[in-house]
Amino acid sequence: MYKILEARNLAGPNYEMIVEAPRVAQRCLPGQFIIAKLGEEGERIPLTITDYDREKGTIEIVYQPIGVSTHKFTECKAGDAFQDFVGPLGKPSDLVEMPIEELKEKKIIFVAGGVGTAPVYPQAKWLHEHGIECDVIIGAKTKELVILEDKMREVANVFVTTDDGSYGRSGMVTKCLEDLIAEGHSYNHCVCIGPMIMMKFTCMTTAKYNIPTVVSMNPIMVDGTGMCGACRLLVDGEVKFACVDGPEFDGHKVDFNLAMKRQTLYQTKEGEAFLAWKEGKTHHGGCGECGGDK
Ligand code: NAD
Ligand code: FES
Repeated sequence: MYKILEARNLAGPNYEMIVEAPRVAQRCLPGQFIIAKLGEEGERIPLTITDYDREKGTIEIVYQPIGVSTHKFTECKAGDAFQDFVGPLGKPSDLVEMPIEELKEKKIIFVAGGVGTAPVYPQAKWLHEHGIECDVIIGAKTKELVILEDKMREVANVFVTTDDGSYGRSGMVTKCLEDLIAEGHSYNHCVCIGPMIMMKFTCMTTAKYNIPTVVSMNPIMVDGTGMCGACRLLVDGEVKFACVDGPEFDGHKVDFNLAMKRQTLYQTKEGEAFLAWKEGKTHHGGCGECGGDK
């Protein structure tokens, strides 16, 4: 069992947990993820690692409740435990595998959207620890949804932007990126993590400025070991599996339209399972499809 040491709401629908998982903490690197399962019957939930402490043997995860299992996560408190906490999975970020001299040549901008700010943090922290500066755009719909700003400011130059202009700059991350470039900032490497639609539009923006861009893909995952095929993507016309070939890919080569279409295929079942868990078997028919009224 993997003990939950801290569990709290960060902001809006964003929650944070610190979990005792010494073997994962010993080996993980920025960019990698874990798969957590609460109990015997629980679903396997892939979550990117937000932070790790090798000495304390802990892993920090940030998540949004979407389906049954992640809503059950929100009910956990310190002292509860995950039955499984598997990792580190996936490949580490390209940045942590590059020679330091090569990294020093890079002018790096991270574009972090919403809860995607969480997986950006360990990369920015790693660069800071290795003496490399970077800029980070944190985008959120509104002021209350900005997460990890203070932590990020300790390791990077941060630009916050909100869609409604309630805090920081005004507009989506793509506008902020264009504004920074217009103000004279120049970049030759972008890492973009957040909702797929945001990654798609950020890649369209960076393509205009010829900025190589890495994205971290988060399709539906089941086993996380390359066997089930759920996380299948097309990258440069080739089939890739986010869990073993990624999660990072060249954003200018990812087929985002296909990735987003596959994501929606799973929504109905997830919605059904959530309602059944929250409301019990309250569906009495009438929809004409389920046969409940016959
Ligand atoms: P959100 O919908 O609040 O969006 C965050 C920001 O993305 C917005 O403030 C905006 O600046 C930008 N954005 C959104 N749509 C855009 C568009 N069309 N063009 C340009 N910019 C746009 O984000 P959220 O609700 O916090 O994020 C939830 C999503 O993030 C989930 O879909 C989740 O799966 C995904 N996520 C991805 C990763 C990953 O590794 N890629 C990790 C965690 C979460
Ligand atoms: Fe099954 Fe990637 S999650 S192949």
